[in-house]
Amino acid sequence: MRLPIIKLNDVYKSYSYGDKRIEVLKGVRLRVAPGEMVGIFGPSGSGKSTLLHIISTLDFADSGYVEVLERDINPRHFSEDDLALFRRRYIGLIFQSHNLFPEMTAYENVYFALRMRGFGHRESKVRALNTLNSLGIDRQAHKNVQFLSGGERQRVAVARALAMGAEIYVCDEPTGELDRENAINLMEILVSLAREGKTFVIATHDDRLLPYFDTVYKLEDGLLHRVEKKEVHHGKATGAFGQDGDGVSRLHSRGHSR
Ligand SMILES: Nc1ncnc2c1ncn2[C@@H]1O[C@H](COP(=O)(O)OP(=O)(O)O)[C@@H](O)[C@H]1O
Ligand SMILES: [Mg+2]
Repeated sequence: MRLPIIKLNDVYKSYSYGDKRIEVLKGVRLRVAPGEMVGIFGPSGSGKSTLLHIISTLDFADSGYVEVLERDINPRHFSEDDLALFRRRYIGLIFQSHNLFPEMTAYENVYFALRMRGFGHRESKVRALNTLNSLGIDRQAHKNVQFLSGGERQRVAVARALAMGAEIYVCDEPTGELDRENAINLMEILVSLAREGKTFVIATHDDRLLPYFDTVYKLEDGLLHRVEKKEVHHGKATGAFGQDGDGVSRLHSRGHSR
């Protein structure tokens, strides 16, 4: 088996506020292979975002081992600057708070992110336009993002992350504001990137995404369990895409989704 690109052993994380302490992760173990499309389900408050922050090196475990791209992610081994550099180079973040620059257009948000990442003018322009186009927001490209719908803004944030060309994409509820058509369109783009070898860890409670994952986990009571797709919601039938099995599994042949 290929070496895992993400490896977590016995990860613990708690938060304290006032005199209260909440244990969020209580010994999480995870292995993600390069090119794998991983879905993490779990009720609200179960720690999905906490786990994604740790995987994306934005936050650290209290204890346990975290390895990303064969590096031991530990504040003792990394300066903050080195870590920021590492993250910028290898990890694409698609989070709920989009952090778009409100005073810029959709195009400018993607373009300037690329410039800050070190791409030249022409390359940034081409990448920005192509990515916005592939996500179906080319017609809104030159509108100020404040005037876009929630779903359009979400796609701009996705475009910004994809245009950078990371190795690992960490996505928190990436389809939360998308209608069915746009959710399918986005997942098909992500699956095609996974086929090229990009790795995805996606936290969601959107059943529509189930057919696209290679591996599905459920985060519950601080632990991560691998589950069958049909078990995500205690064995209930799932998926608004239920009727689309053929199209989906053809697109996503590695996933044995059906
Ligand atoms: N920075 C923080 N300080 C204190 N508590 C936090 C912090 N971040 C998350 N939590 C708490 O940790 C728990 C898990 O949160 P989160 O990881 O956001 O869950 P999910 O993404 O699954 O909804 C929640 O109870 C939340 O209130
Ligand atoms: Mg969350």
